[in-house]
Amino acid sequence: MLIRQAPRFRWSEVTDERLYLNRRELIAGAAALALFPGRAEAGPPPPVSQLAALPAAPNPRYRHADSPTKIESATTYNNFYEFGVEKEDPARLAGTLKPRPWQVVVEGHVAKPGTFDIEELLRLAPLEERVYALRCVEAWSMVIPWIGYPLSALLKRVAPTGQAKFVEFQTLLDPEQFPAQKKGVFGFSMSGLDWPYVEGLRLDEAMHPLALLTVGMYGKVLPNQNGAPVRVVVPWKYGFKSAKSIVRIRLVSEQPQTAWAKAQPREYGFYSNVHPSVDHPRWSQATERRIGEFRRRQTLMFNGYADQVASLYAGMDLKKNY
Ligand code: MTE
Repeated sequence: MLIRQAPRFRWSEVTDERLYLNRRELIAGAAALALFPGRAEAGPPPPVSQLAALPAAPNPRYRHADSPTKIESATTYNNFYEFGVEKEDPARLAGTLKPRPWQVVVEGHVAKPGTFDIEELLRLAPLEERVYALRCVEAWSMVIPWIGYPLSALLKRVAPTGQAKFVEFQTLLDPEQFPAQKKGVFGFSMSGLDWPYVEGLRLDEAMHPLALLTVGMYGKVLPNQNGAPVRVVVPWKYGFKSAKSIVRIRLVSEQPQTAWAKAQPREYGFYSNVHPSVDHPRWSQATERRIGEFRRRQTLMFNGYADQVASLYAGMDLKKNY
């Protein structure tokens, strides 16, 4: 995201795939080994076909007019910078992530702070399947049948106090599980991000029924590359607001310093609502490419969820609060 503008096509689309992979792996492997010695230990995550099934009733209120993106695309074209900055990195390297055992701490301005084991989180509220579009800031999108329940169910359980105004999400910090969190020989991280990955929402955004605490997709538990074992999905905002592999949720009184806004404040704001007429400083946000399609489509205000979420921003200038 940070490093350069997304190309109009990927080299893999115009070059024989094996040639492309061999050449790229050679170059990337040599460079990465020199700069980031930890990456060599990484391997692929379990094949999606072997992931545990996760039954969940489809919620008819959250269907989508478009067919879901192919599972093969949704699990091989990912942004997960803890594994590297290339879209193919998570599917090649996410074998180091161990989604069990796993705990999520929920703390801060709450009357009942708690540490939730992942098995407990899975049972906290009825699981449902919701088909949401996810629009990435890089102007591509996918339609995914997610499995989870409203984030509000977990937040209500810990009873936020009157001082809680924002919710901060933290991804696991563990360079053994996330090789790209290792600092290179020059002491910097390849992505330019400070770890752990931090994201945030205003409390009323986090309590909105669309905000999903997500534990699965396509009828299965979350693949490592999609943020196992638990992430959030906030479908009216650019994809980077949907933090993966969460271990800590803090209810705070001040707006959190989020990873991307900290790295590039002029390019990535706190709100990051999908807004077709607020361009990224380096590219337009008016259109997007749905993965699996070639024609570009118009991007919709709030990613198509305006009826449900526009009232959250009544009276706010969303060009200033990008
Ligand atoms: N969460 C963490 N921890 N690290 C990341 O690099 N990338 C974000 C988001 N969550 C990211 C993350 C971005 S930019 C996008 S577009 C979505 O995850 C991609 O989710 P997907 O790979 O499941 O489609």
